[in-house]
Formats: sequence, C-alpha cells, structure tokens
Amino acid sequence: MRVVDFSFSASFAVLILVLNVVEVCNGSETSRFVRNVEKTVDMPLDSDVFALPPGYNAPQQVHITQGDHEGKAVIVSWVTPNEAGSNKVLYWSEKSKLKKQAFGKVYTYKFYNYTSGYIHHCTISNLKYNTKYFYEVGIGYSPRTFWFVTPPEVGLDVPYTFGLIGDLGQSFDSNITLTHYEQNPHKGKAVLFVGDLSYADNYPFHDNVRWDTWGRFTERSTAYQPWIWTAGNHEIDFVPEIGETEPFKPYTNRYHVPYKASESTAPFWYSIKRGPSYIIVLASYSAYGKYTPQYKWLEMEFPKVNRSETPWLIVLMHSPWYNSYNYHYMEGETMRVMYESWFVKYKVDVVFAGHVHAYERSQRISNIAYNIVNGRCVPVKDQSAPVYITIGDGGNLEGLATNMTEPQPSYSVYREASFGHAIFDIKNRTHAYFSWNRNHDGYAVEADSLWFFNRHWYPVDELSSSEQK
Ligand SMILES: *[C@@H]1O[C@H](CO)[C@@H](O)[C@H](O)[C@H]1NC(C)=O
Ligand SMILES: *[C@@H]1O[C@H](CO)[C@@H](O)[C@H](O)[C@H]1NC(C)=O
Ligand SMILES: *[C@@H]1O[C@H](CO)[C@@H](O)[C@H](O)[C@H]1NC(C)=O
Ligand SMILES: *[C@@H]1O[C@H](CO)[C@@H](O)[C@H](O)[C@H]1NC(C)=O
Ligand SMILES: *[C@@H]1O[C@H](CO)[C@@H](O)[C@H](O)[C@H]1NC(C)=O
Ligand SMILES: [Fe+2]
Repeated sequence: MRVVDFSFSASFAVLILVLNVVEVCNGSETSRFVRNVEKTVDMPLDSDVFALPPGYNAPQQVHITQGDHEGKAVIVSWVTPNEAGSNKVLYWSEKSKLKKQAFGKVYTYKFYNYTSGYIHHCTISNLKYNTKYFYEVGIGYSPRTFWFVTPPEVGLDVPYTFGLIGDLGQSFDSNITLTHYEQNPHKGKAVLFVGDLSYADNYPFHDNVRWDTWGRFTERSTAYQPWIWTAGNHEIDFVPEIGETEPFKPYTNRYHVPYKASESTAPFWYSIKRGPSYIIVLASYSAYGKYTPQYKWLEMEFPKVNRSETPWLIVLMHSPWYNSYNYHYMEGETMRVMYESWFVKYKVDVVFAGHVHAYERSQRISNIAYNIVNGRCVPVKDQSAPVYITIGDGGNLEGLATNMTEPQPSYSVYREASFGHAIFDIKNRTHAYFSWNRNHDGYAVEADSLWFFNRHWYPVDELSSSEQK
C-alpha cells in the first residue's frame, strides 16, 4: 500500500516505514505516524510568497476557474492595486498565435477600514478543448502573461486528474502543502478546493490584507490551473460588531464561480462538468433545509447527471458528514439528514470535504433507514453510497486536529492528523486512483491510496477486491 520515494536516502526511507506502523482494529487504521509537533505559524507579511509583482499597477492575485458548465470557458481574475486600468484580457492558443480579446468587469469593496484594490473578473468563452492558451492581463501598465490548458471534451473514457486541497491558509505549512502538490509526479490538472481559503478572519477586524496576501501566495498555481471553489466557514466574514453584516463579502468579490451556468441562484452551490466528471459543489453555510433555494436546486440537479456522458459523480462540501475526530464533531449531521438518501439513490462516487484539519477516508456506508420511530440510525455498509474523504489538512494557522473519537468507528478506514493533499486520477469509466500525500514524506510518497471503482459502470466493493495494490 505504501510506496517509498527512492530519491530519498535509503535510511530515511526505512525510517518512514518504521514510523508507519499502524494499529489495526476491525479493518480501521488510526495511523501512528510520528510527526513534528511544531506550532503552525503564518508566513510574515514580508515573505517571498507575498511579494508584489514589479511595475506600476501590475496585476496581482491572478487566478482562474472554470467559466461555464462544460469546460469551454475560463474566468480570469486579477487585482490591480493603484487604479482600475484595463478590463481587457488578451489570449491566444499555442497553435494559432492570433490574439483575441475579452472584457471583464471591475469590483471594489470596503470591509470596516479596509478598501480593496480593483478586482477584475473576465470570462473568456468558446475555447477549444484540450488546448494550451496564453493570456495577458494588466494591459496598458505592467502586463503579465500566464497560461492554462483547457480540459478534454466531456466524455466516457477521458482520463483526467484532479488535485485536492482544503483549509489551506497561509502558514509555512500551507506553503509546504502547495509545494508538495506542485512537485507531486501525478499533480492534477485542476484543483478541487474544499473551502477555507485565506483565514483572514483570524486577524483583528478580519484584516483583509490577508485576503490579498493569500491571493499572491496561491497565484503560482491558481493562475495556471483552475481551482474549483467551495465556500467554507472562514469565507463568511460576518462581523456585526464592526458593522460587517453582509456574509461572504470578501469571498464573493474576489472568487467568482460559474453558478448561473448550472441554473443555481447563488455562488455557493453549483455544478460543472469537466472531462469525465460531474462535480456538484454544496454550501455547508447556506440554507439547505426543505424548500430552500439550495434544496430545490439539488433536487433538480441530481436527475440531470448522465453517467453515459460523465461517469464520475463527485460532490464537494466544506463540513464533512462522516468525521470521527473530536473537532467539528457532527457539524455536518443536519445536512447529511437532508441529502444523504439522494447521494445513495444517484450513486455518488465520492464526497470530498474539509473543515477538520486532518485526513480521513471512510468505507462505502449510508445511514438512511431511520424514520424517527424505527430506531435504525446506524451507518451500514452500502455499495450504492459514496466514499467520504476529509481532506482539510492544507496547513492553516489553526494547526492539526489531533484529538480523535475512540474507538475508531469501523466505517472509518484510515485516519491521520498530518498536513497534506490528495490526487484523484480518473483513468476511464470504471477506474480512478486516489492517493493521499503527507507533507512529511517525499513528494512521490503515498501515505494512503485506493483504486476507486465507478458506482455506475463497475459497482464492485473496492475494499474486498484483489485489484487493490
Ligand atoms: C484599521 O483599524 C485598526 C484598529 O483600529 C487599526 O489597527 C488598523 O491600522 C486600521 N487599518 C487601516 C488600514 O486604517
Ligand atoms: C514557499 O515555498 C517556495 C517553494 O518551495 C519557496 O521557494 C519559498 O521560499 C517558500 N517561502 C516561505 C516563506 O516558506
Ligand atoms: C446521455 O448521454 C449519452 C452520451 O452523450 C447520450 O447518447 C444520451 O442520449 C444521454 N441520455 C439522456 C437521457 O440525455
Ligand atoms: C479530546 O476531546 C474530548 C471531547 O471533546 C475531550 O473530552 C478531551 O479532553 C480531549 N482530549 C485532549 C487530550 O484534548
Ligand atoms: C480502466 O483502467 C484500469 C486501470 O488503469 C485498467 O485496469 C482497465 O483495464 C481499464 N479499462 C478499460 C476498459 O480500458
Ligand atoms: Fe472550516
């Protein structure tokens, strides 16, 4: 199950194997990996990763995300600090070199005594699939050029690789997580981000300067591959004591998502198709009870998923439904009660969540038999149910969630309080390879992994299959 990076010295590799001794209990593992227990601290404002790009009014915090439902559009976002400047994006494909232009809109907002820079969002549409494009922003002052690759056309046996990062923040550990993701030999082509971005709200008056630093820190990845955003609790920024009563104000000004393309009425819940996958993003911090906009949307959304078109059905949310740590324990329970039966009915392959600053992977289980009077409220094995993965281990300043409930529930296959990231590598309609990497290991080392079998095309129990390594 564990692969050792042979670029490491042999003695260090042996040490890793020794430290990986696990306690086995009903098929569940609580990793006894011994990690450094240093305090997690934020990178200071003068850190290299926060440096301003050179030149007057140079565009900064450049980031991209998918801009439509199918993957033929990209939203390009950037901030100019001194003046609004041009809204124009110049873009050209690697093959044609013919420069096209698109125009965006500029936004500014105030938060207590902070005033934002000029936040630009521009959607470029009708792109070709599977094509490398260059793009230029900051036209007229200090232009900067970046690039991205569009996804393959939506389809059945189209390979595609996603990175998974959650609860990133801007500590030294956050920087290690991002570096490990970048250096992972199986690095993704897009990131599924499960919420809690900057943690600016941990500073006095939610110092929004820390939203700017986070944008500059992550630019080295977000400018080149789309990050698919999920809203977490650290995006709420609701502070009535200082007059800030509009929830999600910094987040919604800075990070745009293509929610209208999936008939959503708010940017907190939406869906996209990308290559072989249908990705539904849910909002743990927006109303989800019956009759609410999110409920009505999701009820209409699941029947739209066509597994002959997009075989892999993935759900992202911030607060996990199945979490056996003593942090945020049962916070996902109310949403689970509302939506879990749909996840089983529509055979969701996998649910990725964050919030708990650790890693955990479940068996395929459901808990949907309970009806208030029958007493049948217990998770049971269910091959129509998703695997639940908590990947809130990005490395933010709040530190690791080390306190776990005991005994480990039998449905929890593997849990470990270490910082890291994961990869979901879709090979074809039946197989996807999932791997979790912890920051303490070499870039290529997988601390946990699983071959996923698609719930529609190959609904075999992964955990009892000889196909697992
Ligand atoms: C905002 O107010 C806080 C508290 O009074 C102060 O420390 C900070 O320097 C102010 N920032 C700006 C940009 O005025
Ligand atoms: C962050 O990581 C990058 C890439 O590894 C490195 O060049 C940079 O010096 C790091 N910065 C800090 C503040 O740790
Ligand atoms: C599902 O997608 C397949 C492949 O694109 C298509 O042939 C089929 O008609 C679709 N089914 C429905 C119900 O739209
Ligand atoms: C772990 O969490 C439990 C439940 O909240 C608490 O009772 C216990 O004291 C915690 N243990 C430690 C070592 O913090
Ligand atoms: C799908 O991918 C898996 C893993 O690479 C492989 O074993 C399997 O043969 C592939 N299936 C088809 C139909 O190509
Ligand atoms: Fe959170």
